[in-house]
Amino acid sequence: MAVRRILLLGEKILREPGLEVEAFDDELRALVEDMLETMYYADGIGLAAPQVGVSLRVCVLDLRDEDDPDGGRWVLVNPVIVESSDEEDKAPEGCLSIPEMEDVVTRAAGVTVQGFDADGEAIEVEAEGLLARALQHEIDHLDGVLFIDRLSAYKRRALLKKWKKSQKEGAKG
Ligand code: NI
Repeated sequence: MAVRRILLLGEKILREPGLEVEAFDDELRALVEDMLETMYYADGIGLAAPQVGVSLRVCVLDLRDEDDPDGGRWVLVNPVIVESSDEEDKAPEGCLSIPEMEDVVTRAAGVTVQGFDADGEAIEVEAEGLLARALQHEIDHLDGVLFIDRLSAYKRRALLKKWKKSQKEGAKG
């Protein structure tokens, strides 16, 4: 197992749609293990394979915390949203690939996702609240979509300006 480097906004693979996984093999399981380790290291609640430079439809999520120890850990391969509620939910969202940037994103309040685990077993997740939001965010990554794409043009410009400034300051420091 190894912590992999998380790609940042501006790196091309983040914008490429991931390929469907065809082989549920040791290579896939190793990728999943690395993704989990990388997500925990970065203190995130979700991570998608393109974020570690692998253009495959794989994501991991872990929403367990002290208040919600059963919140659940998910490994999803080739996940598809098969149902979304009409009800919307607005909440702040961030991304490990755009560190320290955050804005309010409107998402479906509930989703049903079907996919497979790393061994190829079929999984269905019915989710509301934070899990529903995190699933939509991670599945977006598999299509090359980032949360900033879901902001108004005005808010996106403001966030990108802030991001560029923070990157410049980082480079200086
Ligand atoms: Ni993200």
